[in-house]
Amino acid sequence: MAAGDDLSAAVGSLADDRKAALCLGSDFWHTAPIPELGVEPLRLSDGPHGLRTPPDRGDHVGLSGSVPATCFPTAAALAASWDRELLREVGVALGVEARAQDVAVLLGPGINIKRSPLCGRNFEYFSEDPHLAGRLAAALVQGLQSQQVGASVKHFAANNQETDRLRISADVDERTLREIYLPAFEYVVTTARPWTVMCAYNKVNGVPASQHRWLLHDLLRGEWGFDGLVVSDWGAVHDPVAAVAAGLDLQMPPDLGSADRAITAAVSSGRLPRSALDAAATRVLALVQRARRRRPAAVDRRAHHELARRAAAAGIVLLKNDGGLLPLADAPGLSVAVIGELARTPQIQGAGSSQVNPTEVDVPLQELGAALPSAQVSFAAGYQLGGGPDPALAGEALRIAADADVVVVFLGLPPGAESEGYDRGDLDLPAVQADLVRQLARAAGTRLVVVLCTGAAVVTTGWDRQAAAVLECWLAGQGAGAALARVLTGAVNPSGRLAETIPRRLADCPSFLNFPGEQGHVRYGEGVFVGYRGYDAAGRPVAYPFGHGLSYTRFGYRDLRVAQSGSADAGDLAVAVTCTVTNLGQRAGSEVVQLYVGDPVASVARPPRELKGFTKLHLQPGEQRAVRFDLTARDLSFWSPAHQRWVLEPGEFRVAVGASSRDLRLQRRIAVRGQVPSLPLTGASTLAEWLADPVGGAALRAALTADGRPAGVLARPELLPVIGSFPLLRLTAFPGLGITRQLVEQLSAGAGGEA
Ligand code: BGC
Repeated sequence: MAAGDDLSAAVGSLADDRKAALCLGSDFWHTAPIPELGVEPLRLSDGPHGLRTPPDRGDHVGLSGSVPATCFPTAAALAASWDRELLREVGVALGVEARAQDVAVLLGPGINIKRSPLCGRNFEYFSEDPHLAGRLAAALVQGLQSQQVGASVKHFAANNQETDRLRISADVDERTLREIYLPAFEYVVTTARPWTVMCAYNKVNGVPASQHRWLLHDLLRGEWGFDGLVVSDWGAVHDPVAAVAAGLDLQMPPDLGSADRAITAAVSSGRLPRSALDAAATRVLALVQRARRRRPAAVDRRAHHELARRAAAAGIVLLKNDGGLLPLADAPGLSVAVIGELARTPQIQGAGSSQVNPTEVDVPLQELGAALPSAQVSFAAGYQLGGGPDPALAGEALRIAADADVVVVFLGLPPGAESEGYDRGDLDLPAVQADLVRQLARAAGTRLVVVLCTGAAVVTTGWDRQAAAVLECWLAGQGAGAALARVLTGAVNPSGRLAETIPRRLADCPSFLNFPGEQGHVRYGEGVFVGYRGYDAAGRPVAYPFGHGLSYTRFGYRDLRVAQSGSADAGDLAVAVTCTVTNLGQRAGSEVVQLYVGDPVASVARPPRELKGFTKLHLQPGEQRAVRFDLTARDLSFWSPAHQRWVLEPGEFRVAVGASSRDLRLQRRIAVRGQVPSLPLTGASTLAEWLADPVGGAALRAALTADGRPAGVLARPELLPVIGSFPLLRLTAFPGLGITRQLVEQLSAGAGGEA
């Protein structure tokens, strides 16, 4: 098969069993070779923040170790950078490593929404916000695919927990799917054109994602125009025939001898249209053809390690910094007590299929020591990772803390606590660490710096009021140690922002009462009120809000302007939002300018504010920059299941620009003009809806007018508040109202609906 070959003709030349073979891999990591077409197998590899390629003679699953590769920061850490350009760079580097390992498709990025901070795989995902997740993932995919290596955007869709992940049904209403769980996929698919999408393990409203025709066909290919291949998550296929029929192209790992037979038999018996099998096989060939452009590459390990450090530093979030304790200035008299096993044994990634075998690992303790050559740096482990209370270790830590000018304690979860396959049960730090940090906070609060190395939020209440400074470093890959040293000493000015809220307690989380579900179902009962949308709607305090993060400098915001042009009805509404941001401090630094929009009066429950734009600016001291965001009608709309489309309701909207979702610096109200598209009136429409409609109401009124006077129900206006909510058809059984079945049919036909 050569480039430009007619793939449909190539597939047409194959017997059904050979087509079925194409739709299954040949082993755990490869697509099937078809020698008669000159088709070589393609290698797929995890993903997402580094390559996890089993050595050639290794086990297929790769659990016994993989070829060394750069362990870039996990998605949680990358997302906290809010930096599209950086994500693109990491994508390019991943692409180069994939080329070097002869990998055609990298199984990532994972872009599921962080519905609950308990989800075991949150470290592999970007954000609780779909706008942010989509923008960042698209940049990474663009970078990766610029190397002619395919991305596999996963896990499509509504895979937001690990508990019972292969069977659970995510029961989620249509509006919530459209507004929260699908837009990141939609954005990546429509702008970055990933080569592949990976379906999820779970069911979506009762239908396995691997055979969900609406998701895989109608939406993904139909509405979004996806032209790539859909691969199953590993083991996600319930029914291989239903999967092909729904639009799943490649089933992994292959259930050889069974799935292929079932598919071939279904085609022979006419149960599966041959055209469905042909379409899937053609898309596998198209992937093979795309992958042919890839060329081998050599990896500059030092350069990639340095990028891993830079990326890790960009995602570190300075949560608080009372009294300007940070940055630490190197000085001969300075004594720094570094506490915590995690400073010596760093936790750089989570567990599961994403686990990379790093090429090298920076150790925070060593890096901090090297960055403070004149200071005296002492160390105490304080606790054992995964161990129980150890008074001797804690005592030694408190002793060195007492004598130090500054105490830096490293906290986090033990290996395996954040993993694919299961969720966390709580948001707490291990009890030994929580006890230790409380004691340190009491003893050395104003001198205490807490460094969190976790893949997702942990509860900080109980000690963070006393600690002077708190940093969240996430699970930040092999360069995290140097990155932390650079941020702690000011070589890098922190610029990370929270891509997920840090709640005060687990019970405050919007999904709390509906996570992780029971008896095979998880009800997405909080609807669109996920993450900050939920905390804000409930007016609930949080420890640190979405979008929050401090810098060693300060930024000023001014001159908000909002200009509206076009109209929603004409389909060309555009809202330009501009402001000016200035670095008011003495150091160069980066600010993430965030744009939020809200519709305070709407016919459906809407979040008070939603992120609709962001940009990261690097400013020298005193430098100022104009920022511009362009909003479209979609940014102001909600998904209306009744209309089956995005609806923009006219009225007042709030536009706010700020440094976090709860630090809005500039706000404006704008009046948006437009008309809500009317729904066809039917017998199921209520009496009040009929009367409110200009055309339908006139027809009903005309029918209920006798001798120029109101008749039937119109003659009894006092009844309207009581029976206005009745569907018209139900009122045909009520005597004296003048509403007959024949009238309803006649009116409905006139209104374009059905009785
Ligand atoms: C995970 C995927 C991964 C695949 C292959 C699955 O268990 O859910 O994210 O890409 O395995 O390792």
